[in-house]
Amino acid sequence: MPIEHTPNYSVSRRRFLDLLLGGTGLAALIGLFYPIFRYLTPPEQEEAVVSSVNLGPAKDFPLNSGKIFRFGNKPGIIIRGSDGKFRAYNATCTHLDCIVQYDAKVEGVWCACHNGRYDINGRNISGPPPRPLTPYAVKIQPGAEEILIASQDGAQG
Ligand code: FES
Repeated sequence: MPIEHTPNYSVSRRRFLDLLLGGTGLAALIGLFYPIFRYLTPPEQEEAVVSSVNLGPAKDFPLNSGKIFRFGNKPGIIIRGSDGKFRAYNATCTHLDCIVQYDAKVEGVWCACHNGRYDINGRNISGPPPRPLTPYAVKIQPGAEEILIASQDGAQG
């Protein structure tokens, strides 16, 4: 007597439903996490190639003052001391990359993150900063009396 073999459709139907539900669940997870991943991943930015920056008329900078400016993708700080001399530095603290600011009370540069201090010449004098600030060249355009900032080594900012 021959053995009758009937295909087991219920098993294959179950497997099909498992695959369908698994695929749907995977698609739902991707749909949920992809926007989060895109939000957390910073967009790629083109490096702004800058070799000098014009900061405008020198008369706009009072004595004993400092101002943050953009030098390409980096922050810079220009200082006009009580002596009238202009100095400019990369404003990124050499400790952990916070942006420094001018402190007119002591005529120096201060980093608020960990109370790091630099003198007016950019030398690290107290707190955790391990190195001086990177200086920029300051040129005053003759005639127009406008301030031009350039990196000292000719490198681009
Ligand atoms: S980042 Fe400036 S003192 Fe720490």
